[in-house]
Amino acid sequence: ITKIVKMDSEAQNTEELEYAANILKAGGLVAFPTETVYGLGANAMNPEASTKIYKAKGRPSDNPLIVHIAQVEDMEVLAKEIPEEAYQLARTFWPGPLTLILKKQDCVPKETTGGLDTVAIRLPANHIARELISKAGIFIAAPSANKSGKPSPTKAEHVIQDLDGEIDMIIDGGKATLGLESTIVDLSSGAPMILRPGCITKRMLENVIGVIDYDPAIMGKNVDPNMIPKAPGMKYRHYAPEGSLTIYEGEMAEVVKAINLIAKEKTQSGSRVGIIATDETKEYYHYGTVKSIGSRKEEATIAAGLYAVLREFDELHSEYIFSESFADNSLGQAIMNRLLKAAGYHIVKVYEK
Ligand code: TXA
Ligand code: MG
Repeated sequence: ITKIVKMDSEAQNTEELEYAANILKAGGLVAFPTETVYGLGANAMNPEASTKIYKAKGRPSDNPLIVHIAQVEDMEVLAKEIPEEAYQLARTFWPGPLTLILKKQDCVPKETTGGLDTVAIRLPANHIARELISKAGIFIAAPSANKSGKPSPTKAEHVIQDLDGEIDMIIDGGKATLGLESTIVDLSSGAPMILRPGCITKRMLENVIGVIDYDPAIMGKNVDPNMIPKAPGMKYRHYAPEGSLTIYEGEMAEVVKAINLIAKEKTQSGSRVGIIATDETKEYYHYGTVKSIGSRKEEATIAAGLYAVLREFDELHSEYIFSESFADNSLGQAIMNRLLKAAGYHIVKVYEK
């Protein structure tokens, strides 16, 4: 059975943190909150412990794990030939939602890195996460705490849905504040490259280390299918909703009109319809189940709300889901990256007639 404990974000609950730390030291699995999404943690230096993560998630064994640390100096224990940019980015964005890919030291087991010679390192900002890593006194390998193929968990109840009964403990630390997985930057060879967009945007990175490009293989459906993303996890479809998800793009009033039209048609022919709207538009939709994922005035609320709404439409067994689209800049890059993948890149462009 899985022990589930609620912890406030100050993590004063040291006895239970101690308990969780002991499970990790003994090679067990503990799900814990981070500022991005919930992580499924295990001792990163223990190959058997890492292997348990793959099993619990149903994750392909070539998809490496991110190693979470509690202090910047630990980067040097795990990585070698660390370029100056890594220190600059770490100083600026850690603790926080940034993962650095570096050449690994021999001590990092291949089970943790999916067989690669590089290692992904992140120093999270969430207080519970940091206390847990410090208390355990080990490095914690932690992918998102969902079953492979489901959206990343932004609440403990999502972790419970996916992994209850299969792991040792779940720490409920409330809602993940950011809601999208960390930005991944590869610094292991040649020019720095963004392997996964996230809340630390391209612009923010460029302010620190100069021009940086996205891995061309993650840039949507028009990429050459022979190109393989450098982050192995990005090659998987990841998550496909139960129903068919279509994104509508164009001027907002036209998008609302087009979605109303198709939603009306589908509900009238007896299908269950879901609509992904925003605070600004939700009252203009008249058919199906309408859910706002956040406010367009604050893009961060949209990032924070996306995964929970996708899970909710699955629970409702929606057969058709229609979504508004979001500006493809700054945080919108990360939002659209996840939304487009969930939609299998199915996008309808709406133009004024
Ligand atoms: O925000 C996050 O990063 C969350 C929280 C829990 O920290 N973790 C997370 O882990 O999103 P996961 O396993 O769901 O995604 C890790 C991604 C995968 O796409 C994986 O392929 C990539 O990081 N990755 C890990 N190690 C890598 C490496 N050495 N080289 C390239 N990509 C790597
Ligand atoms: Mg994941």
